[in-house]
Amino acid sequence: MGVGNVYIVVVSVIVASLSWAVDACPPSERAALLAFKAALHEPYLGIFNSWTGTDCCKNWYGISCDQETHRVADINLRGESEDPIFEKAHRTGYMTGYISPAICKLPRLSSVTIADWKGITGEIPKCITSLPFLRILDLIGNRISGELPADIGRLHRLTVLNVADNLISGRIPTSLTNLSSLMHLDLRNNRISGSLPRDFHRLVMLSRALLSRNQISGTIPAAISRIYRLADLDLSLNRLSGSIPESLGKMAVLATLNLDGNFISGNIPATLVNSAIGNLNLSRNALTGRIPDVFDTRSYFTVLDLSYNRLSGPIPKSISSASYIGHLDLSHNHLCGRIPSGSPFDHLEASSFAYNACLCGKPLKAC
Ligand SMILES: *[C@@H]1O[C@H](CO)[C@@H](O)[C@H](O)[C@H]1NC(C)=O
Ligand SMILES: *[C@@H]1O[C@H](CO)[C@@H](O)[C@H](O)[C@H]1NC(C)=O
Repeated sequence: MGVGNVYIVVVSVIVASLSWAVDACPPSERAALLAFKAALHEPYLGIFNSWTGTDCCKNWYGISCDQETHRVADINLRGESEDPIFEKAHRTGYMTGYISPAICKLPRLSSVTIADWKGITGEIPKCITSLPFLRILDLIGNRISGELPADIGRLHRLTVLNVADNLISGRIPTSLTNLSSLMHLDLRNNRISGSLPRDFHRLVMLSRALLSRNQISGTIPAAISRIYRLADLDLSLNRLSGSIPESLGKMAVLATLNLDGNFISGNIPATLVNSAIGNLNLSRNALTGRIPDVFDTRSYFTVLDLSYNRLSGPIPKSISSASYIGHLDLSHNHLCGRIPSGSPFDHLEASSFAYNACLCGKPLKAC
């Protein structure tokens, strides 16, 4: 082979590798995706049938790449979606297998959504915390077990962490409070135990904290109220005890507070009654004392559920000056006295007041 030929070969090798760099995903990323696929089994829809050919950025179902670098940026596999593939099969998705640690060999991943496949088991790969660009981790609706990775706090760009409706156990890792970009935390319906991290309030960007239906114990840290963007706090159906921090009623944008189905005791803080909260469920706890008599025009409740507690005394007169109370449930307490009249009450039925000590007046029997 002459010098000229060698030159041509070298040039064409360079051109070939450049054309890979321009057009296709790196072979290492293609290999990682194929290893990820090999650990999963999707029998009904054939979503992985498109995962063929050398360019994993081109027409691979659920995969998208960065336009410039051609590195895999998103894995978006939803078992319940509007995609034609589901309509054609007349069913929602079902998939078994586990999430392979091969996923961690996609260092530019920014979002991982593997949601509502109902049958995926195994653990969250520990190495996932080494993906520095990860913003979204959404694994809702599978059968994933094990614990949240202890060093999850390393994912400092993470804005969404959703592992709801799985079988995750163990405690909330203390490092989680290092997720200073986290806006949406959804751990609902798992088997998470232990207490809330004491410095939960370090999650300064948090707007939704949904931890319902776990086995979380201990008390509600008062400092949660320092999370000033928090709009939705759902701690219902856990094993929380202690009293409700008064500061929760002073939060600027807290609109939904669900603490129902715990072992919470003490009085209802007066601050909760004329706050920004429009959706308040304190049902099925061990609350005592009187309903605070401080309702005013700021009191606007779509839901006010105080049922199944040990509240006593009368229904406060001031409740008539609330702007609106859509659904009121005061049943199953020890309340006594005349039910106030006024516009918030006109539409309520007897069941809202049933099973108390001695309430009377419309809609119950006359006093
Ligand atoms: C949180 O991050 C800081 C600084 O990066 C680090 O020193 C600390 O160990 C982390 N905390 C936890 C609990 O991981
Ligand atoms: C409040 O919580 C209780 C107990 O978890 C639940 O049964 C009830 O439906 C909730 N109330 C409303 C209005 O959603």
